[in-house]
Amino acid sequence: MAGVVLDGKKVSQEIIAELKPRVKEITKKRGRPPCLAVILVGDDPASQIYVRNKVKACEELGIRSVELRPPANITTDALFEAVDPIVKDKTVDAILVQMPLPKQLRAEEVIPYIVDPFRDVDGFGIHSLGSLVVNRFAPRACTPAGIMQLLHRSKIPIAGKHAVVVGRSDIVGKPMALMLLHENATVTICHSQTRNLAEECKRADILVAAIGRPAAITRDFIKPGAVVIDVGMNRLTDKDVVVPLFAHDLSRLSAFAKNESVLVGDVDPRAMQEMSSAYTPVPGGVGPLTIAMLMVNTVDLAEMH
Ligand code: GUN
Repeated sequence: MAGVVLDGKKVSQEIIAELKPRVKEITKKRGRPPCLAVILVGDDPASQIYVRNKVKACEELGIRSVELRPPANITTDALFEAVDPIVKDKTVDAILVQMPLPKQLRAEEVIPYIVDPFRDVDGFGIHSLGSLVVNRFAPRACTPAGIMQLLHRSKIPIAGKHAVVVGRSDIVGKPMALMLLHENATVTICHSQTRNLAEECKRADILVAAIGRPAAITRDFIKPGAVVIDVGMNRLTDKDVVVPLFAHDLSRLSAFAKNESVLVGDVDPRAMQEMSSAYTPVPGGVGPLTIAMLMVNTVDLAEMH
């Protein structure tokens, strides 16, 4: 069986198109567009790319973005001072702090200080997370919310299905499991201490991989016909690893020859294509949906204000 591709890019474009009239309406009513503030501490290359894409999505939609980029070695106190104008600016509808933070800063301390519950566009705050647990309206973490949109819009049934989420991060794994549970899936969460991971995964009708280990989920982990969602985004540069993984895909191999690196998810791309009934490719699957849902959350917050 060859699984169909769940095209995250296409679905994200649909979501963005639906937002356009809402942005126009807010801008007309208030005389100013919605505004998203992005705080990126340091110069982590992956974070820089993510932030650039977030700002680009804002531009495309007519959302104003404000960026603050303090240096990697900033202290907690200096960071709080630097963000003060943004925190006090009532024209800012939504605020996010890009993760991961440098080691000297603690997310538990930084996020509640900078991001109040009414501007928590990432859904990472305690208030938003509590609302998720009891299934009340609040911003939802963008990656799992985007995956739910992809499943719905691709007409993949969830109720009664066995969903297995591999990874228990606060950003993806835990909120993903709760969102699937609220849609009446039977949910298993697997993690680094799970015994016999392959066996657990093989029971999944819907398998979500979010562990950050390149191509770790292989053929033995996938039930034939499962829907496989790959959240991983790993850059590989070792030819001996890359060539067998993409032996079936000449266009990826020639891109690797040119760029000397290639992106691979947490699932072996050959296994995903061969074993699943539907799957998200990397890139072009989950990634664009995260950004689209960030825009949805920004617009939701602006409308609330
Ligand atoms: N780092 C990785 N994913 C995310 C995200 O969705 N939001 C933020 N703020 N940081 C991230």
